[in-house]
Amino acid sequence: MPLVDPLRLAPLLGLWAGRFDVDALAECDSTSSEVLRRAEAGAPAGLVVVADRQTAGRGRRGRVWHAEPEDALTFSLLWRIEGPPAGLAGLSLAVGLALVQALERLGFHALGLKWPNDVLGLCSGGWAKLAGVLVELSSGPRGTQVVIGIGINLRAPRATLDQAVAGLADLGPVPDRHAVLAALLASLGEVLAHFARQGFAPLRSAWEARHAWAGQKVRVSIDAGRELTGNCVGVDLDGSLLLSCPEGLRRVVAGDVSLRALSGGASE
Ligand code: BTN
Repeated sequence: MPLVDPLRLAPLLGLWAGRFDVDALAECDSTSSEVLRRAEAGAPAGLVVVADRQTAGRGRRGRVWHAEPEDALTFSLLWRIEGPPAGLAGLSLAVGLALVQALERLGFHALGLKWPNDVLGLCSGGWAKLAGVLVELSSGPRGTQVVIGIGINLRAPRATLDQAVAGLADLGPVPDRHAVLAALLASLGEVLAHFARQGFAPLRSAWEARHAWAGQKVRVSIDAGRELTGNCVGVDLDGSLLLSCPEGLRRVVAGDVSLRALSGGASE
């Protein structure tokens, strides 16, 4: 029996229970791949696949995402939004914000966001990555299909060479995984509904209030080996990163950008 029982989740979701159809698996290749396959077969928005173990978990920038079943929560959500993907640049940031707000409601503090959507926790050594988000968009006759894959560490995984990592347990007592998943889904439901009506603009100040690297000097690697160095000013109304560079203010819009602190801090 998988670690998540959808029957235990439903009462915790309250009013949101009717909006999500949660399937829990002991194992799959990747919850996002599984949701994509089911979406192609006609699954409705609100489908959630949560798996204890992924044999081919995918991260951003083509990376592998590895997590131990007992120590993590890995799931993907299918959503659909009217209109073309062009206006959806800020969606990725909105998802990160939804996760942080859910964790705050669960009583966690010292949380931050790293552009575009990494969730960080402030631990003894500085900011460390708590959760990663992979947003995959595709357009179709009914608008834009969005598959949102989320991996959140309940306990810290083994540290990687290039990145500080943490788990919720580093920040406080970890609630039962059903409570964590219900809080994350309810918050995603709220933020996505908000985003569908008004886009990212009304969420910008809440995102910036949690921007872990605000005002810091960073190096942003963009495609084809190009890099920008500048101060993180904030994010624009469409979710692009604003960097104050020697040559002036630059907007970074590319979906996959990594930030590297020039001294210390979390990096990707
Ligand atoms: C990142 O690189 O930071 C994003 C990681 C996203 C991992 C999650 S785990 C659940 C879902 N299924 C996947 O294969 N990837 C996402």
